[in-house]
Order: sequence, then C-alpha cells, then structure tokens
Amino acid sequence: MIWSPAQYNRFAAEREQPFWDLAGLLEATVAPEVVDLGCGDGRLTAALAGRLGASSTVGIDSSAEMLAQAEVHSRSGLVFQSGDLATWAGRADVVFANAALHWVPDHPAVLTRWRDGLGPGGQLAVQVPANAEHPSHVISAELGEEWLGADNPPEPVAANVLTPEAYAGLLDELGFVRQHVRLQVYGHRLGSSAEVVEWVKGTSLTRFRALLDPEAFDRFVDEYRRRLVARLGDRRPYFYPFKRILLWGRLEDRGDVA
Ligand SMILES: C[S@@+](CC[C@H](N)C(=O)[O-])C[C@H]1O[C@@H](n2cnc3c(N)ncnc32)[C@H](O)[C@@H]1O
Repeated sequence: MIWSPAQYNRFAAEREQPFWDLAGLLEATVAPEVVDLGCGDGRLTAALAGRLGASSTVGIDSSAEMLAQAEVHSRSGLVFQSGDLATWAGRADVVFANAALHWVPDHPAVLTRWRDGLGPGGQLAVQVPANAEHPSHVISAELGEEWLGADNPPEPVAANVLTPEAYAGLLDELGFVRQHVRLQVYGHRLGSSAEVVEWVKGTSLTRFRALLDPEAFDRFVDEYRRRLVARLGDRRPYFYPFKRILLWGRLEDRGDVA
C-alpha cells in the first residue's frame, strides 16, 4: 500500500479524537515500555510517549512514506522501525494500535501474539474502524470488484474486523482479567457528501493506489465519487457517522495478587 501522510492528515483533528479516547483507557504505570503498532507519521506516538511517561517507546510501521515523516520525532527513548504489525513479537508493558489492526486478517492470532509480548500487568489498547456497511466502504468494495476482479484487495474492515462482543470474548480467553470494549460513533461534519472521498483517499482507498497507475487511480476515484454522491445524495453539509471499536485489556499484575 502507498500511504500519503499529507492526505491522511487532512482530517488530523477528527482522526486524533479516537487516538486520545483510546489512550484514555490506559491505566497509569511507572515509566512503561510502549510499542505503537502501525504508528503512522509518529506525531501521536511521540505525544503518547510523553503522556505516559514512557521509559522507551517503539513505533512500528510498514510504510516507508510514514516512517520518513516519523523520523523527525525520534529522540532518546523513542525510535521508529519498519515492521509488520501482524507478526510483531517483541516485549512491552503497553501494546497500542490505533486505526491499524484492521489492515491485517486473523485478529485472534495477532492479538494472541501481542498478548504474548506483555508482561504481568501489561495493557493492550486497540482501536479499529467498524464502518463496513456505510456506502463509503461498500462502494469501494463494489468498484474494486468491477475494476480488478480476482485482484481486488478485500475491503479490510469487512474482511477483518470482528464484532465488539467477539473482541470482548477474545480478551477474556487471552487472560485479560480486566477489560473495556465499546462501539463508539464519531460524527464528522464535512462540507459535503463528496468530501467523504477526501477522507477515504487518506485511508481505505490507499489499497488501490499500488494496483492502479496514477491516471487509472484518478479515474477510479472519480467514479467512486460519482457513485457515492448518487447513493448519499449531494448533501451540503454532510454528517459522516463513523463507527469505531475501542478495546482495552489488562493482564493480572503479580503485585496485585494478595
Ligand atoms: C490509518 S494509519 C494510523 C496511524 C497512526 N496509528 C495514527 O493513529 O495516526 C494506519 C497505519 O497502519 C500502517 N499499517 C498498515 N498495515 C500495516 C502492517 N501490516 N504493519 C505495520 N503497519 C501497518 C499504515 O502504514 C499506516 O501508517
């Protein structure tokens, strides 16, 4: 996938809210070691490290474009590395992943690996979009099928994201003695329904950039916009409801045991 940090950051304020809601679920611990999986351009990773008083923080991402931006935030105790969040197998007190896990399949296996990286009292905090049935996601899946046939990359939210109750059950099975899982609707007031295109160009449509040449990608986006506006109506302004799942779990801390 080819990520554009500039496109992603067009809605930086709106995208940031779930990040801080997720961070708000973490319990304070002394100088934790933190890993931020799918860290993107690193700006929020650096802010998170500061807020948690982390002794060390590693941001991991698979996008060279995002990591190039992240580099400016590296400092003592904060590093960025190229890697695949699906196979991460390090050690941390806090495993954090905002708006990234949905890009990979088999969440039970991935979350098991992440749990294995946590020590006693370790915390897991993950936020994933859960908007698969909104036309913004349905139309990209339909168009991808028409344009790419067998090469159509699956719509990641529909293909990979579980229900809130499935995540809750999974956290329990994985030994998280305390947990918080919720579905939250983030309402975004956009100038028009057509502006939804600018939102998804920074995220879910990135999966087509690598598969289409730039001219074909532009035509794809034009057709996507036409269908989206036909389905939503040409509404100005447009209220874009965006569902997300936030999940947090904490393992038993040996110090907690009487
Ligand atoms: C929507 S951005 C979120 C960035 C950041 N977490 C934030 O909240 O601003 C998703 C990020 O996940 C990264 N990503 C997607 N699949 C990945 C994978 N398999 N391994 C590592 N990073 C991945 C992308 O490169 C992108 O930077």
